[in-house]
Amino acid sequence: MQDDEVYAGIGEDGFRRLVAAFYRQVPGDDILGPMYPPDDLAGAEERLRDFLVGRFGGPPRYIEQRGHPRLRMRHAPFRIDQAGRVRWLQLMERAFAEAQLPQPAEQTLRTFFQSVASFL
Ligand code: HEM
Repeated sequence: MQDDEVYAGIGEDGFRRLVAAFYRQVPGDDILGPMYPPDDLAGAEERLRDFLVGRFGGPPRYIEQRGHPRLRMRHAPFRIDQAGRVRWLQLMERAFAEAQLPQPAEQTLRTFFQSVASFL
């Protein structure tokens, strides 16, 4: 599935369920928990969701509110080592298992997460 077809395939609700399932695991995670803002997890959830929606063919809310994503720069304050990358992807795999998105959309998103995680 092409990147810009994913939003048509899973809609707002698909992104919402996936990202919610991811962030539900964050506070209890020994590596990622301490890195995320404890008082603004809902905000972090919204930023990732809006970013993904816009990146995959939906409304460009993220760019309207935050500007160019510049993911590398925005992650600079955090120590993103191999363990962090692996854990982030593991939590996202559990989120996929919970969200039960259609396979073609899931695979397109997975490929994207893997490439961003190694680029960060
Ligand atoms: C693999 C793909 C990843 C994507 C697509 C992604 C995407 C994003 C986005 C869009 C934001 C919000 C940036 C902003 O507007 O300020 C963000 C924030 C953040 N990311 Fe990532 N990220 C990824 C991987 C990681 C990894 C591997 C880690 C840590 C090991 C990480 C840790 C964080 C933290 C701590 C924040 C701050 C939370 C916030 O306040 O928004 N990210 N990420």
